[in-house]
Formats: sequence, structure tokens, C-alpha cells
Amino acid sequence: MRAFLKSTELEIKEAATALKAGHLVAFPTETVYGLGADATNQQAVNRIYSVKGRPSNHPLIVHISSIKSLKKWATNISGYALALAEEFWPGPMTLILEKDVLVKDFVTSGQKNIGIRVPSNSIALRLLSEFETLGGIGVAAPSANRFGAVSPTTASAVDSELGLFLNEKDLIIDGGQSNIGLESTIIDCTGPIPIILRPGALTGDMIRKKVGKYSIFNVNRIKASGLIASHYSPNAKVILGDFANPGEGFLALSNIPTPLGAIRLSSPENLESYAKNLYAALRFADQQGINVIVAKPPEGCGLAEAIKDRLIKASMR
Ligand code: TXA
Ligand code: MG
Repeated sequence: MRAFLKSTELEIKEAATALKAGHLVAFPTETVYGLGADATNQQAVNRIYSVKGRPSNHPLIVHISSIKSLKKWATNISGYALALAEEFWPGPMTLILEKDVLVKDFVTSGQKNIGIRVPSNSIALRLLSEFETLGGIGVAAPSANRFGAVSPTTASAVDSELGLFLNEKDLIIDGGQSNIGLESTIIDCTGPIPIILRPGALTGDMIRKKVGKYSIFNVNRIKASGLIASHYSPNAKVILGDFANPGEGFLALSNIPTPLGAIRLSSPENLESYAKNLYAALRFADQQGINVIVAKPPEGCGLAEAIKDRLIKASMR
């Protein structure tokens, strides 16, 4: 069993203390909920892998409370990476950087690079600051779902994903629904220009405006589990399109009518709302026992691209 905490000062302190003692704490971020562990504690980090059922060769993102701790984790940071960090942190952006020599292999799965993020959710930031006050330097946190499944955007979704696998000392902080609803934009900053490995709410345009140029990922370049097929998948089969049969789930922007007899899962009026409610809609379909979800990805770049990316991966199963 696991306890649910709200986000009073006392409860955030309790959660930080639990993290420091090597327990797992699921916490809200503006993207999705993360399953946190002290990134310097091998046993705690190992538990993340077993609770998620995640293969050990998939590296974890380390979360820090501010850019000030960046150099404890990364080295040889390029000018453009620093410019991105200064501009977009705290926020939905993960930078892949060369890891410092002191960083242990267990958090990066043996890779020489490390993913770092400063989230903007105020509960996450308070938790990270409190953890650092206790002597911690970073919290490893993947999305708080079973490997390959849909990321949770509420505390109760974390509980239904992982409740059975957490123990009585682990905690879940309830901070309401994640604001963005899609995982962070991952940017590989180890080469001459930034490469987007996973699209998110921080868009290519925003990157270009700040540092002039970027390119889009090449799947084979770096192992990133969120890039492989069959990810972000509900139990239902996801099909991309705009025709659904009676009894099938249907997901599209609100201006697209529901096919006759299909079950409307969400009618977002804009891209932000599409992203925010996407994973809840996929979960809802599973709870209703719906076997097929037809989803019409939005057109365009930026956030539309990120939504489309997740829908394509959810459909590859
Ligand atoms: O929004 C997010 O990024 C959320 C919240 C909790 O911060 N976290 C998240 O973590 O989505 P996760 O583990 O579910 O997805 C992180 C992705 C994985 O595909 C992982 O393989 C990749 O980032 N990754 C992590 N470290 C990496 C590294 N050093 N090199 C390449 N890819 C890395
Ligand atoms: Mg994930």
C-alpha cells in the first residue's frame, strides 16, 4: 500500500525525507507524474526499474530544482545548451548532456550522457528544493506508469498504474491534473546543434528563436525508450483516422463530428486541451472496456506534432 499526500509544507517535507531515506515518491510535474528516487542511491533507482517493469538499459531523467545544480551532473555544456537551460527552465524540457565523471552508471544505464530537467510545477519544485536542503542533489524520475503504458496525469492514475507495486513506505503526492499532459521535449545537446529526440510542449520554433537552429531526431542515434514503437499504449487498440464504428472510442478536436454510434472520448477545443486530456481519454476508454480507439491527430507543427507523435506510438502495437 502507499499513502496519498496533499501538498502542504509538512507533507512536502515528509515526501523529501522519504526520498532521502531511499523510498519512492510519485509527484506531479507540469508534463506528467514522475516516479521519483534519490538519483545517487542505487537501490532506490533499481526499485524504479522493478516497479515500472522497465528494462535496465533505458536511462532516467534527473530532476533538479534549478540550473545552479546543473554542473553537479553534466560537463562540457555547450553555449546553446546553456542558453536553452537559462531560457526554458523551469519548464517542459529535458536536455541530454555529457555526464560528469562522478555520476554513477546506474542512473544513465551506462551511457556517457545524462538527461536533466528542471520542472516548473510548484509542488515538484518545492519537493526538489526540500530534498536538496536535506543534502540530496537530484531526483531520478521516469513517468509513473508501467513500462510501455500511458503516462499518468493524475495521482489516481499513478495509483492504478503502480499501486500494486509500491510498498508502504513509498508515497504519491496528489497535485491535481498535470497542466500540459505530454512528456517533456527531449533535446540532445551533445553535438554541434540541438536535436529534438522527443517532441513536446517546448517546440522547435521556440528552440530556433533562442539558438538559431535545431534538427529532429534520428531514432538510431541514441537509445530513448520513449522513441521505440509500442509506447504510450492503452489496452485498447489505437487506430489513426476519422472513421469509427459504433461502440468504438473516438478522439478528435471538437470541430470534427463523432461518427454515428461511436463513443466520444474527448472533444478538445484546442491543441493545449487535446494534449492535457489525451492520456486521461485513453485511460477512460480502457476503464470502459472499449477495445478500439480511433484518434484523429491534429494537423500542424509544434504541440500538434507532439500529440501526433504520441498517438502514432500508441497505435504501434
Ligand atoms: O516529462 C517528462 O520528461 C517526464 C517527467 C516525469 O519529468 N519524465 C519522463 O521520463 O517522461 P521517461 O523515463 O518516462 O522518459 C524519458 C525518456 C526515455 O525515453 C529515456 O530513454 C530518455 O528519456 N532518456 C533519458 N536519459 C537519456 C539519455 N541519457 N540519453 C538518451 N535518452 C535518454
Ligand atoms: Mg515514460
